[in-house]
Amino acid sequence: MHALDTTTLQRLEALAQDARARAYAPYSQFRVGAALLVADGTVFAGANVENASYSMTICAERVAVAQAVAQGHRELRALVIAGDAPTLSPCGACRQVLAEFGDDELLVAFPHEGELTTMRLGELLPIGFHGAALGVASAAWPA
Ligand code: THU
Repeated sequence: MHALDTTTLQRLEALAQDARARAYAPYSQFRVGAALLVADGTVFAGANVENASYSMTICAERVAVAQAVAQGHRELRALVIAGDAPTLSPCGACRQVLAEFGDDELLVAFPHEGELTTMRLGELLPIGFHGAALGVASAAWPA
């Protein structure tokens, strides 16, 4: 398991807070920011982007993953999220999207009762569904 040092964690948290300020959330007024660290050290930010057709809304985490992948980065190492609540963890849909590109060891840090809590993706989404079930090697999972 790769560790996340305190300095990196704090840097990612600050970037997640910056991204949160850029959220487009006129309907829920609930802003979420994400900072995603990839293998070469680059950090990609994401913020939730809502839509008048509510179900078209994209969560901050998925925006960050799409940013990374679109820039050619598929090896996810750590994700930190920040939001407008003392307790907030990635929704089920985002956990599934993270599992396409991050293995069980991907570190996910999120606010829990006001404290930043870190868990592995494998704890947040145990026994996830991967391309291997379809006989296809995906970015993080060999077939
Ligand atoms: N949201 C996120 O961006 N990430 C989460 O982990 C949970 C929820 C967004 C979606 C929607 O824009 C707003 O928060 C309220 O659900």
